[in-house]
Amino acid sequence: MCGIIGYIGKNKAATVLLDGLERLEYRGYDSAGMAVYDGEKINLAKAAGRLNVLYNLTRGGETLPGGLGIGHTRWATHGGPNTDNAHPHVNRDRSIAVVMNGIIENYLPLRKRLIARGYEFVSETDTEVLPHLLDHYYSGDPRKAIIRMLHRIEGSFALGIIFKDHPDTLYAVRKNCPLIVGIGEGENFIASDVTAILRHTRKVVYVDNMEIAEIRTDRVDYYSMDEEVLEKTPTTVDWDVSAAEKGGYEHFMLKEMMEQPKVVRDTLSPRLQNGRIVIEELKMTEEELAAVNKVFIVACGSAYHTGVVAKYIFENLARMPVEVDLASEFRYRDPLLKHDDLVVVISQSGETADTLEALKMAKEVGCKILAIVNVVGSSIAREADFVMYTWAGPEIAVATTKAYSAQLIALYLLAMKFAGARGFLHGRKYKAMIDEMTKLPEQIEMLLNNREEIQRIASRYIAARDVFFIGRGIDYAISLEGSLKLKEISYIHSEAYAAGELKHGTISLVEEGTLFAAVATQPALKDKMLSNIKEVKARGAVVLAVTTMGSSEIENAADYTVTLPETNPLFADSLAIIPLQMLAYYIAVGRGCDVDKPRNLAKSVTVE
Ligand code: AGP
Repeated sequence: MCGIIGYIGKNKAATVLLDGLERLEYRGYDSAGMAVYDGEKINLAKAAGRLNVLYNLTRGGETLPGGLGIGHTRWATHGGPNTDNAHPHVNRDRSIAVVMNGIIENYLPLRKRLIARGYEFVSETDTEVLPHLLDHYYSGDPRKAIIRMLHRIEGSFALGIIFKDHPDTLYAVRKNCPLIVGIGEGENFIASDVTAILRHTRKVVYVDNMEIAEIRTDRVDYYSMDEEVLEKTPTTVDWDVSAAEKGGYEHFMLKEMMEQPKVVRDTLSPRLQNGRIVIEELKMTEEELAAVNKVFIVACGSAYHTGVVAKYIFENLARMPVEVDLASEFRYRDPLLKHDDLVVVISQSGETADTLEALKMAKEVGCKILAIVNVVGSSIAREADFVMYTWAGPEIAVATTKAYSAQLIALYLLAMKFAGARGFLHGRKYKAMIDEMTKLPEQIEMLLNNREEIQRIASRYIAARDVFFIGRGIDYAISLEGSLKLKEISYIHSEAYAAGELKHGTISLVEEGTLFAAVATQPALKDKMLSNIKEVKARGAVVLAVTTMGSSEIENAADYTVTLPETNPLFADSLAIIPLQMLAYYIAVGRGCDVDKPRNLAKSVTVE
């Protein structure tokens, strides 16, 4: 996903921009650029490749003097990752420069009309229509030109804009893509997210859709599309800078895996009061909870995988129907939504385009929307009726770990809340489950601190060609996440499979030495899993079993075993996922992959 940063102030803009872009690298990109006003003109520097290419090209920013500038890291969508397509994009006399995160969906007709009017394009990007449109509409008033442009473009975007004739102002506007204004002392900023400017300021303003921000060194004004002045209240970000740093770990991913005990505790504790589950964010009475007819859970990627786990838990505990959908499917399958259904959207970034659009679709039906998100003030958080934050802190590694674990906790609490309201969970069972949940952080810690076995196994499979993850019930849901972790950071092909389904075709892929991770934490399904392990072993597979204490038959049948501490089977994912995360991590490290920033991936997919 692209990253935007802008600066206006007393310091060298280029230095601030380069530093900010470096902190946005985790979002995934393949080119970068800056535009800085030097007192007379706008100077431009763009480069394909990693940020250090731009750094060297500008001698650390030296070649771009001036205190007003915009910077960008681009994740290619329209047009390949090359210098011409890199942002910023400018109009013909370079009096206007624009950076964008997002997509202009109607750029082709706009491009055709502009070319017919004599505008020349140097890139294949959708973004380049913006400076030319602004050029076309500009007659001395940038805000009016921006508003006219906004009326013409369709899509989702966050924009940073500078005008040569107005060097005292940086302009910004967003629609469905993240953008914040950072408030400094005698300097101000814009950025795609907080991590880019945290070292300069904690005071931020979350700009809402189609609000135009006019940022000067000593003030910021906000306008609606009708040019009415808007009042915005800054909020203070309480993340510490170290939270956005590696903290001595080799990778953000390892740091964030090690933070899972704390994150689970931080997500859980505020919602346990005197032994009772209290979800203050869910502003629904017990009666309203009990009246919810059905729950739809909608998400993407790993967030979707937590939804699959939640389905088993909701239906087991609260005896209520739950449908789980990939957001990109939900949007187009015309789901049978009714206004008394609750739609739960799950998203770490709170900016995933498919999830955001699915939320809006459900809202139009009149459903109540509960969002489980990690980023405060994110688009999904702002669109939902209720928001349960996962309090995982900034998650920098593209492959989610701690946010996934925090999402599980939020979903456990939610399912138990519904079960209680519907009369299925109370008394000793309720208390026992809360006790088991509060033990999870220390159990996760124990698994994290005893990772040598997993490291040893991983070192043997860095050259694996195919790896299968199998399980039944919740263990199948865990397998989905284990497989994705391995795929996305090690680039090894992997597949999660319902263990009982293997014999219906896929077992034909088993060869001598094929690695299977068999997740077997559900007591009622252990015998079946034992059969499945023997089934694949008989065809030459090597099996790593992830199981709970006292599964000697499984341990004897498997080649390797990771034994998990005892917990409620419904909470098993919180423990079983730890060795699977570690397996993926150490295989990827062994293969020399870019663990924190895997190829082709972005931390938040704000395009459809
Ligand atoms: C998970 O490791 C991936 N990075 C990806 O599947 C991610 O979970 C998905 O894109 C959803 O992102 P979100 O939680 O920010 O909405």
